[in-house]
Amino acid sequence: MNSKLFLAASIGVVLSILTTLNVIKFFSIKNNAATANVEKLSNHEENKFEVVPIVEDAVGPESFVFDPLGGGPYTGISDGRIVKWDQDKHHWINFAVTSPNRDGCEGSHEHDKTEHICGRPLGLCFNETSGDLYVADAYMGLLIVGPQGGLATEVVTRAHGIPFGFTNALDIDQEPGAVYFTDSSSQYQRRNYISVILSGDKTGRLMKYDPESKQVQVLLGNLSFPNGVALSKNGDFILLAETTHCRIMRYWLKTPKAGTFQVFAQLPGFPDNIKRSPRGGFWVGIHSRRLWILKLVLSYPSLGNALLKLPLDITKAYSYVAKWTGNGLIIRLSEQGVILEMLEDTSGNRWKSISEVVEKDETLWIGSVTMPFAGKYKI
Ligand SMILES: *[C@@H]1O[C@H](CO)[C@@H](O)[C@H](O)[C@H]1NC(C)=O
Ligand SMILES: *[C@@H]1O[C@H](CO)[C@@H](O)[C@H](O)[C@H]1NC(C)=O
Repeated sequence: MNSKLFLAASIGVVLSILTTLNVIKFFSIKNNAATANVEKLSNHEENKFEVVPIVEDAVGPESFVFDPLGGGPYTGISDGRIVKWDQDKHHWINFAVTSPNRDGCEGSHEHDKTEHICGRPLGLCFNETSGDLYVADAYMGLLIVGPQGGLATEVVTRAHGIPFGFTNALDIDQEPGAVYFTDSSSQYQRRNYISVILSGDKTGRLMKYDPESKQVQVLLGNLSFPNGVALSKNGDFILLAETTHCRIMRYWLKTPKAGTFQVFAQLPGFPDNIKRSPRGGFWVGIHSRRLWILKLVLSYPSLGNALLKLPLDITKAYSYVAKWTGNGLIIRLSEQGVILEMLEDTSGNRWKSISEVVEKDETLWIGSVTMPFAGKYKI
């Protein structure tokens, strides 16, 4: 087949699968959340939702963290800055950057064209004793910045000789002090994240960094798009989102099960970050429901690779499709991996590509890799 014909055929396949989406949707909800309290965000609940615009020309507040004194949240955005929310003045202030090269980073242009130079901070977590902020930057690796902010310094950029390609999320065990973090792929960069799924890439890793010895240890390798991580309350285990497979895995750190790894929850969409909820369990941001892509790749791996060879920007094509099919979706899992709560924006179509949910003081802070705002939702 010539490439134009193949393109047309592929679009045909995609469109025909899209028309069956509703079926997939309802099946997924029933199958996964028989007992869940599924809350649809209808019009009268809209007033519980508040939009907090991000700084001008930037999008994508991916992760949120509060400092040890309760200030913030802090979030990393598309132009490479980490900004802090000033709770009194109600605006964002510059806090830190992950790259010394800031020329032309800010302003209105496609930030995914410059993010490899400007940095793209994703996971954030404070050392609660020292007030230092650890940053997982998609391009710069694991970094740290002091309580006053400024330019972050490099902590580690490779493990076992293999450089990180897409550092993504982290969590800290405050006592005795260890940083757990993920590299989603050593082959694909963040701006090609759809390719990680389509190619069936298995180069992702879960690592542990010890600040005393300054050593990094690979806990798990050969992972398919490892993404968010969250330690359990007592540090017995760590949860890991495996985005390609739409599931959350559990890796035991302590107890006689230490070193073992099992499925914790299967989800109706692609999970991003995981955060512990103060009411127990874990919040998971769902990037999008399991669209045609997963079905295609799982059934015909060669089709995934063929799509990647097409003369089109697959990440752009996907975000276009997701724009009119993807509702924002967030899920709270119990300590046992059962879905407790599921919130979906079925009316306004305002929540997109949700990356994270942080619960604090009866408020959910909702992040996204594409939205130009943070969402606040009163529970
Ligand atoms: C946090 O800071 C304390 C005090 O400086 C230090 O002992 C500890 O190792 C740090 N933890 C991490 C994870 O860096
Ligand atoms: C990944 O799989 C290969 C082949 O099965 C194996 O040799 C390697 O040790 C694995 N890597 C890790 C980090 O688990």
